[in-house]
Formats: sequence, structure tokens, C-alpha cells
Amino acid sequence: MTAVVLQEMTKADLKVVAAIEQLCFPEPWSERLLADELRLANRRYLVARHDELIVGYVGWMFVDDEVHVNTIASIPEARGQGIATRLLLEGIEVAVARGAMGMTLEVAASNEVAQRLYQRFGLAPVGVRKGYYAGGEDALVMWNREIASEQEIARRSELARGLS
Ligand SMILES: CC(C)(COP(=O)(O)OP(=O)(O)OC[C@H]1O[C@@H](n2cnc3c(N)ncnc32)[C@H](O)[C@@H]1OP(=O)(O)O)[C@@H](O)C(=O)NCCC(=O)NCCS
Repeated sequence: MTAVVLQEMTKADLKVVAAIEQLCFPEPWSERLLADELRLANRRYLVARHDELIVGYVGWMFVDDEVHVNTIASIPEARGQGIATRLLLEGIEVAVARGAMGMTLEVAASNEVAQRLYQRFGLAPVGVRKGYYAGGEDALVMWNREIASEQEIARRSELARGLS
């Protein structure tokens, strides 16, 4: 996909983002919850646009020297084209510039596509939160504790090269 632009998510984006949440998640976040998130100082949300349309987004939270990926999605029609990879690359770059050393997230145990994506970023499963999701599904907790290391920077350069 050509000319995908990453931008800060704003209030004006929230209707569309909430609609994409509905498409992508069994427990979608509401527009209101997203608006609350945008107001929090330790959060950061980006949208990916193609021809002005939002095709994906990512949100993360800073806690001490860790970054926690809160959400990431791309619209079904645009999957497999590197949008989530670009969003994560940008998110990690911002986080490392801000002093983050580690990165973590939860992912549904059955979500193999997302787990493969995260593994490419050096995230490894370290534990399970039983019944974490409202439907009762377990979450895998994944970590990469050295996102600022030379090895991880090289890994991300390789991923970025694969996109271009
Ligand atoms: C998980 C999710 C965010 C991935 O988004 P995406 O934009 O499709 O991700 P990417 O394109 O960067 O990578 C996904 C796949 O596309 C492939 N890909 C990446 N760039 C590509 C390119 N230029 N050409 C072809 N394929 C490519 C990747 O190899 C990967 O393939 P895989 O199935 O072998 O792992 C998306 O499937 C989604 O929104 N799912 C629903 C919500 C969700 O589960 N979010 C995660 C919650 S924890």
C-alpha cells in the first residue's frame, strides 16, 4: 500500500476509530472511552491514513520506563500490508526516545495473527492471565524487556526495510 501517513489521533477521528473497534474487537471501546484515553497524559494514540481514510491505529501507555501497547488494529480490507508493523515501529521509536526500556501487551490466546506480529518485534510470551477478557478467554502476556538495545534496534531496522 502506498502513501500511508501516520498522525496523532484527535477527537475528530474518534467516531471512525470507534466504528473500527466494533469491526475488530469482541469488546470494542466506545467513542467516550477513547476520548477519555486521549486526555490522559501518559497515553499516545496514532492513526494510519490512506487517501485521507483511517486504515489503522495504535494506542500505548507509558509507565515508568515501560511502554504498554493498549490497542492496535487495522481495517480488514487493509490487513497484511504492513500497517500494524508501521504503527508499532513508530510507537516503539517514540517510546524509546522517551526512555522506555521494555514493552509489554496482552493478546487473546487464540489471536495467532497478532501474536506472530508481536513475535516479529521480539515480544515473547511470559505468562497467562486466566479469563482476562469479558468472554472468558485467556490473555497471553508478552514482553520485550530490551527495546532500546542495539539488537532490537537492528531488528526493527530490518522490519522497516521489509516494508519499503
Ligand atoms: C493484528 C492486526 C492489527 C495486524 O494488522 P496488519 O496491518 O494486517 O499487520 P501487518 O500487515 O503489519 O502484519 C500482518 C501480516 O501481514 C504480513 N505483511 C506485512 N507487510 C506485508 C507486505 N508489505 N506485503 C504482504 N504482507 C505483509 C506480515 O508478514 C503478517 O503476516 P503473518 O500473517 O504471516 O503474520 C490486524 O489483523 C487486526 O486489526 N486484527 C484485529 C484486531 C486485533 O486482533 N488487534 C490486536 C489485539 S492484541
